Amino acid sequence: MLVILKRDNEEVNEQAAHLIAGAIKKKPSLVLGLATGNTMVGLYKHLVRLYRAGSLDFSQVTTFNLDEYLGLPASHPQSFHHFMQENFFRHVNVPPRNIHIPDGSVRGDYDAYCVSYEHSIRFAGGIDLQLLGIGRNGHIGFNEPTSSLASRTRLKVLSRETLDDNSKFFGPGEESPRCAITMGIGTILEARKILLLATGDSKAAAVAKSIEGPITCAVSASALQLHPDVTFLLDELAGAQLTQRDYYHRVLEMTALLTPNRLS
Ligand code: F6R
Repeated sequence: MLVILKRDNEEVNEQAAHLIAGAIKKKPSLVLGLATGNTMVGLYKHLVRLYRAGSLDFSQVTTFNLDEYLGLPASHPQSFHHFMQENFFRHVNVPPRNIHIPDGSVRGDYDAYCVSYEHSIRFAGGIDLQLLGIGRNGHIGFNEPTSSLASRTRLKVLSRETLDDNSKFFGPGEESPRCAITMGIGTILEARKILLLATGDSKAAAVAKSIEGPITCAVSASALQLHPDVTFLLDELAGAQLTQRDYYHRVLEMTALLTPNRLS
C-alpha cells in the first residue's frame, strides 16, 4: 500500500490525473474503473484539460463506473450517468460503446442485471485501474458498513449516513434514492491497481481506519489492505488522523528512488 500525502485538493487532483494519464499512455486500451462524487470533480477537470491540450487520448479506453442510484433515470440531474456525462464524458473522446455505468432504471431481475455487469467487466479483460472515493463511513462504491468483503455487483440499501449526505442534492420534497446498484468489494479487489482519493477533514477518521485499522466489514475500505497494489492519495486534512505519516513519506521517497514506475 502506498500512501501519498499532498498539501491540498488541487495537488491531489493533479497527481491523480498524472497517474491516470501515465496508465493510459502505458496501455492505450486501459480498462478504467470510475467513481463519482465531489472528490472526483477536480480530477475530471484535470483529465479534460490534458485531453484538450492533446496530451491524452481516450479513444481506446473502456470505462466501468462503480455505482448508480436505483430508480433514477440517466437523465435525472442527480444520477451518476448525468454526473459522468457533465463532468467527463461529454468533454473527452471515450467511445460511447466503451462506457459502462450500472443502469439505475433496471426493473425486475436485479441479480441477473448485476451478473451481466460483472460479465461485461470480465469480457473487457478486467479492470486495470480502479478509481475510488471514500464515504465518511468508510464505504467504497456504495458498499456500506457490514458489506461482505467478498461481495459482487448487487443491489445495496444505502445507510442513514449516506442518505443524509445525499439528501442535500435533492430538491425540497424530492425523495433521495434509498438503494443503489454497486460493484461489490470483491469486484473492486479484482482490479489490477486501485487509486483511492480523499480530501477534507470529514474523511480523516474513515481514512485512518482504512489504512491503519483492522480489516473489518464495519469499514469497507479497510478491505483494500488485502490488495497488493493500492495507492491512497490524500490531502493534509484527509490524512490528519494517520499516525504513521512520517513513515509514509519515507516509503514514498524510496519508491521514487527504487521503483519510479509505480509513480508515473
Ligand atoms: C461514488 C462512490 C462513492 C463516493 C463517496 C465519496 O461513485 O462510489 O463511494 O466516492 O461517497 O463521495 P464524495 O466524493 O462526494 O465525498
